[in-house]
Amino acid sequence: MSSFKALVTREVRDGLFDSQVETRELNSLPDGDLLIRVHYSSLNYKDALSASGNRGVTRQFPHTPGIDAAGIIEESSHPDFKPGDKVLVTGYDLGMGTSGGFAEFIRVPYSWAVKLPPTLSMRQAMILGTAGITAALCVEKLQRMDVTPDGGEILVTGATGGVGSICVTILNKLGYRVLASSGKIDQASFLSDLGASMIIDRETLSEPSSRAIKKEQWAGAIDTVGGETLSNVLKSTQYGGAVACCGLVSSPEFTTSIMPFIIRGASLMGVDSVEVPIAVKQAVWDKLANEWNDLPLERLATEISMDQLPAYIERILAGKMIGRVVVAISELP
Ligand SMILES: NC(=O)c1ccc[n+]([C@@H]2O[C@H](COP(=O)([O-])OP(=O)(O)OC[C@H]3O[C@@H](n4cnc5c(N)ncnc54)[C@H](OP(=O)(O)O)[C@@H]3O)[C@@H](O)[C@H]2O)c1
Repeated sequence: MSSFKALVTREVRDGLFDSQVETRELNSLPDGDLLIRVHYSSLNYKDALSASGNRGVTRQFPHTPGIDAAGIIEESSHPDFKPGDKVLVTGYDLGMGTSGGFAEFIRVPYSWAVKLPPTLSMRQAMILGTAGITAALCVEKLQRMDVTPDGGEILVTGATGGVGSICVTILNKLGYRVLASSGKIDQASFLSDLGASMIIDRETLSEPSSRAIKKEQWAGAIDTVGGETLSNVLKSTQYGGAVACCGLVSSPEFTTSIMPFIIRGASLMGVDSVEVPIAVKQAVWDKLANEWNDLPLERLATEISMDQLPAYIERILAGKMIGRVVVAISELP
């Protein structure tokens, strides 16, 4: 086996990018300790940014995106891993500067890989993917700030998206009452099936407001949207509440006064699942595979092939994604 199939994004004209499935040579992969045959990947918002030429994500093209991969080791030069081991690789530089998971093979440093927990399949792990780890880290941040189910409701913004929908399922499982903010009011039954108790129209949170503080509405929030939405989320956070922010689909900029922090004692916490140390990733995977392993993952999942990726990349960029897209890459052995 010297060649393999991969999605390749090329700059076809100045600033215009196109992605197609192509045949690549194994020796075009970067150096690394582990050669992994990828069986499943998943589509995240960041992959769509990479595939559309966003230089903040990927500088060099042609490039194979895919920040998530679940697969089986073919070759290992590190004693911690051996051929046949099932592994997960998410984040770090995978799919950004390093050839990513939308390919039958990746080659990566051993320090980016975790062993697949035995109670998860590769497919289940990729339904979760980076979105799942991010959602879990957001929920853990709220827990660490003593935001408990009896303290009040929790708002999730971008609720039908990958991170948002997994947040709704985890919070529901843990007994929180979840308010889901969404632009897709026609997806109310999808959100209530995941455990949302009320749907809030996205527009009510995205309107600019000159007030420094508003009526207290939620004990905690997980924000995947940024911009004006995050400003409004903070203004309505209850006394002593906490907001975990991880996304920027609306805007990376937001404004706030000091008031939510000094009048209400609210906290704003950032969440990163990309560069987080591998031991933290392993612990989050273990939690998702054990303590939190009864999430309704199949309800979240749409499975596609590598050939369908370009169409789904357009869909996620347009904010039309519902739940998680898992990409079947190579047939299982
Ligand atoms: N910090 C980290 O480590 C980390 C990790 C993973 C993802 N992220 C970030 O988290 C965000 C969500 O990622 P994802 O993979 O879940 O994306 P996604 O599946 O596309 O979900 C985003 C959701 O946000 C809502 N939305 C889209 N455009 C919007 C707009 N202009 N204004 C308000 N809401 C909008 C939509 O949900 P509704 O229609 O339901 O409102 C959409 O489905 C992205 O910014 C991503 O980069 C960060």
